[in-house]
Amino acid sequence: MNIIQVKDYAEMSKKAAELLIKKVKANPSINLGLATGGTPKGLYKELIHDHTQNGTSYQKVTTFNLDEYIGMKANNPNSYHYYMADALFNHIDIPAQHTHLPNGRAQNNEQECIRYDQLIDSLGGIDLQVLGIGQNGHIGFNEPGTPFHSPTHIVKLEESTRQANARYFNSIDEVPTHAITMGISSIMKSKEILLLVSGESKSEAMQKLLHGEISEDFPASILKNHPCVTIIADQKALSGILINS
Ligand code: F6R
Repeated sequence: MNIIQVKDYAEMSKKAAELLIKKVKANPSINLGLATGGTPKGLYKELIHDHTQNGTSYQKVTTFNLDEYIGMKANNPNSYHYYMADALFNHIDIPAQHTHLPNGRAQNNEQECIRYDQLIDSLGGIDLQVLGIGQNGHIGFNEPGTPFHSPTHIVKLEESTRQANARYFNSIDEVPTHAITMGISSIMKSKEILLLVSGESKSEAMQKLLHGEISEDFPASILKNHPCVTIIADQKALSGILINS
């Protein structure tokens, strides 16, 4: 894993945007895997800024998001469909039909999981997957204990994850209990992975990721087995952690 150490959230977002824009310019038809949450918001702002200022085009880009809450309408401001439209898609020139998220309101959830993995495969797989990390090591909504071989599936969210996400809702009761997420095997099939980590609340997870063993109890640990992972982490996320480089 290649670790890029940066000062703070702003620098992490800028570095991530530089890297991603370079990839889009090198391959205008790139398939990007995208995440939601607080971590990539700054990256998306940088991409919008660059698109507006420099005209980097996303007309041929295809995107696949990691996850969506179960039961939430796309026009609900807490849905990941809404988040992506608001944080990125509405502000760049990507055609709506090139942007894909799992459907949290499918008639048949099991079928939806299969459809989503098949869609990714049929469009050539993900070239670059952007990831955040949960304090418990989750990637996507793959909580501790998720089998490493899991494809896209339905998950019951851990209480700690619901608590962490409650800041976006009026109350914890409104936070959905289930989500549909790309599985760990779906994520690991990406040709390249870019993990963004910022803030003190993530330093324990970083410690485990860099110095712990590979275990299903800490889902992100599987990334050590991926041949092409770049981590951009800020000083707070790396505080007190020894980097072997
Ligand atoms: C989001 C996702 C999650 C988040 C993680 C960190 O699509 O899949 O794994 O990346 O929960 O969230 P933040 O960035 O809010 O700390």
